[in-house]
Amino acid sequence: PPGAQQWVPQHPGSIADLKAAAAGCQGCELHDPATQTVFGRGAEDARIVFVGEQPGDIEDQHGLPFVGPAGRLLREAVDDAGINPAELYITNAVKHFRFELRGRRRIHQTPGPAHITACRPWLVAEFSLLKPEMVVVLGATAAKALLGPSFRVTRSRGQLLPWPASAQHPADFPAAEIQALATIHPSAVLRADDRDEAYRGLVEDLKVAAEAVG
Ligand code: URA
Ligand code: SF4
Repeated sequence: PPGAQQWVPQHPGSIADLKAAAAGCQGCELHDPATQTVFGRGAEDARIVFVGEQPGDIEDQHGLPFVGPAGRLLREAVDDAGINPAELYITNAVKHFRFELRGRRRIHQTPGPAHITACRPWLVAEFSLLKPEMVVVLGATAAKALLGPSFRVTRSRGQLLPWPASAQHPADFPAAEIQALATIHPSAVLRADDRDEAYRGLVEDLKVAAEAVG
């Protein structure tokens, strides 16, 4: 795929400018079957940016990230970690819903490396505008987009990572002192055998991020 770069405005003034441009993105084939681009949302002066995988079925219909079951769980965990939701911006590594049709049901499919790479310019543009203090990477897809293919969430979750030093392509990001932290995806908590334990682990990791921004 050609990738999103040609749709990214050169000098966006705001997240709203990026969102408007992303509505027309055809940087990869995922735009075609999906309902709409689901761009990030939240405070333009956010101190913490959360990055998920891609919109799900409900997000695709509403045009907003994390408004389904995973989003509900994430908001609860954010609250339990003592993070002020007004200081957040939430986005996804891939901005269109990838799915497979089974009958009339749309079944989530994990985005591939080509989709992650194609969509990455939007993430880079969001970071350039937001200049957050903390990047919370939710799950393996966001980790692939931001921390590189060899990063293992299970091994390195809950640790503060220097950023952009640990980024996949450090030069893409503002050279400000940012920190990053990877944790499991809220959908993984919903699927876990021991959901309470998985939830506690997510909250513990988010507390590390919360304490780091103070
Ligand atoms: N899962 C994600 O990664 N992002 C969303 O927006 C919803 C579910
Ligand atoms: Fe563009 Fe990303 Fe959608 Fe692909 S997934 S069409 S790169 S916004």
